[in-house]
Amino acid sequence: MTEPGKVSMEKIVSLCQRRGFIFPSSEIYGGLSSCWDYGPLGVELKRNIKDAWWRSVVQERDDIVGLDASILMHPQTWASSGHLEGFSDPLVECKNCHLRWRVDDLKDKNCPSCGGELTEPRLFNLMFKTFMGPVEEEANVVYLRPETAQGMFVNFQNVVNTTRKRIPFGITQIGKAFRNEITTGNFVFRSREFEQMELEFFVKPGTDEEWFNYWLEERFNWYVNLGIKKEHLQLREHTKGELAHYARACYDIDYLFPMGWAELEGIANRGDFDLVQHAKYSGKSLDYFDDETKERFVPYIIEPSAGVDRSALAFLCDAYDEEPAEDEIRVLLHLHPSLAPIKVAVLPLSRREKLVEAAKQVYADLRQCWIVDYDDAQSIGRRYRRQDEIGTPFCITIDFQSLEDEQVTIRERDTMKQIRVPISELKATLAAKLSGEDLFVLPPGGQIWKE
Ligand code: GAP
Repeated sequence: MTEPGKVSMEKIVSLCQRRGFIFPSSEIYGGLSSCWDYGPLGVELKRNIKDAWWRSVVQERDDIVGLDASILMHPQTWASSGHLEGFSDPLVECKNCHLRWRVDDLKDKNCPSCGGELTEPRLFNLMFKTFMGPVEEEANVVYLRPETAQGMFVNFQNVVNTTRKRIPFGITQIGKAFRNEITTGNFVFRSREFEQMELEFFVKPGTDEEWFNYWLEERFNWYVNLGIKKEHLQLREHTKGELAHYARACYDIDYLFPMGWAELEGIANRGDFDLVQHAKYSGKSLDYFDDETKERFVPYIIEPSAGVDRSALAFLCDAYDEEPAEDEIRVLLHLHPSLAPIKVAVLPLSRREKLVEAAKQVYADLRQCWIVDYDDAQSIGRRYRRQDEIGTPFCITIDFQSLEDEQVTIRERDTMKQIRVPISELKATLAAKLSGEDLFVLPPGGQIWKE
């Protein structure tokens, strides 16, 4: 077994490139620094992570709604939010903890937080600038959003007016964000184009601490329920010096990445900063009127803000395992079934026509429900290994006996144990197993095949 928290980044990068999870962006031109392309398996993993977020915050609740705001926003947004001002001073960045410091605030040449070495100062604006319309002049400057959050703040009143949501309620969105990071690295951990899953939860002032604690627990458990080992996660409170200008309190959910503990998600109590700022600069009221208590107030915001790419990296690192198998090493990903890019692989024992025909039929049927792979190349052992390495929870083998008895075997990834079930029961059985049912709970006509 791979020791917890000990998988190297090299192994993860190599697996991702070898099997088509993640490639360097525009690789044929030598790559583009800190940008990444998700391959056929990576795109499924990311989709599954985003689906899991959406399921937990939108589908399974009645107090949060979704939004998909545009990436380009009115440039005033970034003046109101503090992003324009906050990122246009000469900054240095700590090469170790990545905190940025204004040069004029520094008392010595090392990082005031961790003592790490600092980069050279540069006039730095974190946001990517571009021009809207045909003329490249100051009046036409727009920015690629550095976070999805602002799209939700500026739509607060639209959502209140068009839904029946009353406070406390939340708005969530998933989308791309762009930051011209000074120091990047550690694979997809810190890139210049990435995806965020953010939730802005609007609450009555005075109830904010309670909701803040609620979301800390909810979000921590989300990772644990999707298979990340508890001992690889920690909650870390921001020190006063670390707190962003808008935050009253903030905790990071840190994960034990191969390079050490680092932020996976931030959860902040943003107070009324955002709505007050946008109301002030837009001239539009962003108050909330409580019909029951007849009170008018500016809601406070609790914000869990997670990265899709960092989550993907954490899920891959945590799932990675190597174990001895006969005379080789079995590499496998213990991915949670809901995150696994491919749920089931259909493997005919040989390429004989009759067998292929039966296997293709099973394959076509299962594809109605899940992303399914079909593989008939090389020995069955090799094919199992290929699926183990990408985290496929179940392999279906169709053998010559299947043609007689209309039964197939289901092999489980982690235990390599097998059961044999009637083809007529296959879909229902797989649905149950993918939802976590024990392999040896058998359907009618099923039997234990290999312990
Ligand atoms: N709206 C608050 C906000 O954006 P943040 O801590 O700057 O807060 C939230 O970002 C999350 O977005 C981080 O916890 C991380 O998962 C992800 N993230 C931020 N910068 C990133 C980068 N350069 N590359 C990859 N993910 C990043």
